[in-house]
Amino acid sequence: MNIVVMNGSPRKNGETARMTSAFVEEAEKRGHDVRAFDVCRMDIHGCVACEFCHGKGNGQCAQKDDMAKIYAELADAEMLVLAAPIYYHGISGQLKCAIDRFYAALYPTAPATLKKVAMFLASGDPDMYDGAKFSYDGDFLGYLGLEGCGIFTNHDADVEAKIREMAASL
Ligand SMILES: Cc1cc2nc3c(=O)[nH]c(=O)nc-3n(C[C@H](O)[C@H](O)[C@H](O)COP(=O)(O)O)c2cc1C
Repeated sequence: MNIVVMNGSPRKNGETARMTSAFVEEAEKRGHDVRAFDVCRMDIHGCVACEFCHGKGNGQCAQKDDMAKIYAELADAEMLVLAAPIYYHGISGQLKCAIDRFYAALYPTAPATLKKVAMFLASGDPDMYDGAKFSYDGDFLGYLGLEGCGIFTNHDADVEAKIREMAASL
């Protein structure tokens, strides 16, 4: 399976990185083609709502930045993994910028290959996921109709083992 992983934490050894690494390692071990992006170390700007992608651009974004690398891998992706720390009740701004840029590639429809999604979240408080879950449920399960493979958080017991189990079940 072609899997695009987007890590929206700037901390190289933080909780989001820990969960993401467990997934990438297990999924690769199982033979999946994992394309992992550290969005905090990429030049990805926010969507400017120019609508070029839905007009003359025919699906291409007018902005020329590192999002092009993600668009190239999304074209035949079968699964999307979104990983982020919670900042002020929602996912980090860095990941949000990249998700907003999905407007060119996943709106109004996603590539036909894309079927599954999962989310990894890290927060200080254990009950801080409503904002992120709202987007996961509304945008990815509801609007795009993807199959949810779960939301995993750093407050889940044995979270790395649970993530590895999910990766092994793909
Ligand atoms: C700018 C900022 C905002 C944060 N806001 C919240 C918050 O609203 N709720 C919360 O529980 N934790 C909050 N935290 C704590 C982080 O979510 C927590 O430290 C998390 O483990 C960071 O993920 P990481 O280890 O992958 O960097 C915030 C941290 C930062 C730096």
